[in-house]
Amino acid sequence: MSLQIKSFKEYKEKYKQSIERPDEFWAEIAVNFTWRKKWDKVSEWDFNKPEVKWFEGGKLNITENCLDRHLEKNGNKTAIIWEPNNPDEESRHITYRQLYVKVSQFANVLKNNGIKKGDRVCLYMPMIPELSIAMLACARVGAIHSIVFAGFSATAIASRINDSQCKMLITANEVYRGTKRINLKEVCDEALENTPSIENVIVYRRTVEPTEMKEGRDKFWFDELQKVKNYHFDAEEMDAEDPLFILYTSGSTGKPKGMVHTTGGYMVGTTYTFENVFQIDKNDVYWCTADIGWITGHSYIIYGPLCAGATTVMFEGIPSYPDYGRFWEIVAKLKVTHFYTAPTAIRALAKHPLSLVEKHDLSTLKVLGSVGEPINEEAWHWYNDNIGKTNCPIVDTWWQTETGAMMISPIAGITPTRPTFATLPLPGVQLALMDENGKEIPQSNEASEGRLAVKAPWPSIARTIYGNHNRYKETYFSSYPNMYFTGDGAYRDATGNYRITGRVDDVVIVSGHNLGTAPIENAINEHESVVESAVVGFPHDIKGNALCAYVITYDNVIKDDALITEIREMVSKSIGAIAKPDKIIFVPGLPKTRSGKIMRRILRKIASNDTSNLGDTSTLLNPDVVQSIIKSYK
Ligand code: PRX
Repeated sequence: MSLQIKSFKEYKEKYKQSIERPDEFWAEIAVNFTWRKKWDKVSEWDFNKPEVKWFEGGKLNITENCLDRHLEKNGNKTAIIWEPNNPDEESRHITYRQLYVKVSQFANVLKNNGIKKGDRVCLYMPMIPELSIAMLACARVGAIHSIVFAGFSATAIASRINDSQCKMLITANEVYRGTKRINLKEVCDEALENTPSIENVIVYRRTVEPTEMKEGRDKFWFDELQKVKNYHFDAEEMDAEDPLFILYTSGSTGKPKGMVHTTGGYMVGTTYTFENVFQIDKNDVYWCTADIGWITGHSYIIYGPLCAGATTVMFEGIPSYPDYGRFWEIVAKLKVTHFYTAPTAIRALAKHPLSLVEKHDLSTLKVLGSVGEPINEEAWHWYNDNIGKTNCPIVDTWWQTETGAMMISPIAGITPTRPTFATLPLPGVQLALMDENGKEIPQSNEASEGRLAVKAPWPSIARTIYGNHNRYKETYFSSYPNMYFTGDGAYRDATGNYRITGRVDDVVIVSGHNLGTAPIENAINEHESVVESAVVGFPHDIKGNALCAYVITYDNVIKDDALITEIREMVSKSIGAIAKPDKIIFVPGLPKTRSGKIMRRILRKIASNDTSNLGDTSTLLNPDVVQSIIKSYK
């Protein structure tokens, strides 16, 4: 299947068609997939309700598109190359045919354990092929997977399992991360104390260490496979609008949002953008360094690449092990042609001697990608000069868990690139830049800055928040009438190229991870010595942003390093180590408006060491507190 645009002129034509005649445009793409029954209607939507449907009445199973349809011509092509944490351990090459068999076998395991269409299954797994197998097996039986990043805490797993009432948990006994070995099963056992909906746990043995198993509940992956005699599994027939997965993302308030993605539109959107943005050729080796626990891994390690019949690399380890040259060693070893990573990784690697790059042959690289946060100019140039050797277009891809697929990005080798710009919307994406009065700023010969919204749906937009459609409406469709609000700010130049300036809500992107400040504050406030807290982001050289927590304690509390450690541990326990604040500042009060709202703008400025212009503080209930906070900060 080739859905590729081949020139800038063609991009412009396709873009025009996609806006003027979206149904015709997307139908022309969608016919290239395997459907058991064609759709009745291409799209049906109303952002006021909000309700979005694509390819309604179409019947399919996404795994027939990821696997079965490649078997005849490409069964022996490598689908997944797995690179282990330890470079001395062997890589695994799994062909499309082998993957088909493994997925079918595991789908039988799921069925034997009572999993059927519509059931939710939680996956808490390391970056090993079995994660992909479990994920695809869920899709094959029609179960909805909910993958929880294997760095999240027991509390975070439990709340996600409970929110969507998962029936089964699939995990591994342990995970390797650099020199560390982490016991995932223990974390799961703690989570499972509070998750009554879970009936069975399947445990893959990644290491030979003894693993504690709970009789009647826990089963080893391998033992369950032994019981399967059938290497085929008739894929469940799904409606295009049946849910494929739930993936939780942080919100600016309250608990994480379980974004629900459905089958048909997600498949079409991820595959189309994958093929176009990267301009993948049939012998290419594509590597996305994200974890499958995030949307980037779902869409661009698994579903997009496999539907496109590409070879996709999965890496178990971390960029710094055994040294900071590991990524480049893997590129050389596997002859990677397409490399897709996050700015935070680029910045971290750029801090180390260039000799770590130069000793590896990177000449196979054709395209470089960036995702997850704005890429700063310095990182862009380092990437371009030292990794791409100025020969590889950099696709700076802007999108979100909610969008399912890339939205703004250059098409490699076709759209002119420019440092720090995600450039132009992809076909089917109709953007709007909004001013502070909620009015659209029309494209003109002048550059403008505003908030980014989208005027019409695209096939892979998340359809709802699991169990809370009202929150979906409130969060995304209530800022501007009849538009989807992204939560991001953007700058648009006179030629219509976009640069994303960052979040405009209380979500902070730390090392590419999307973290809501409210749940972190809740965790801190649970400490017995804490009265109240406020968490904000501030710029950080490598992480992009780091977190600063301003904490008010009870009067007689000793504010020492031990307390700081305890507070950070509270956050780690409640959410995960990624959410631990870098700075904890004890303050006598927080700047509040008369209506009791914390004025975070001021706290952000103080944390960024930018106190020269704090703006208008006269509306504060307690303006004096600002000077005390500045003093505490120093
Ligand atoms: O702020 C934007 C930032 O990441 C947010 C979405 O985070 P998440 O749902 O975790 O998905 C990340 C991977 C798609 C966006 O609202 N973001 C993502 N890509 C870019 C970006 N900011 C600037 N440039 C990007 N290329």
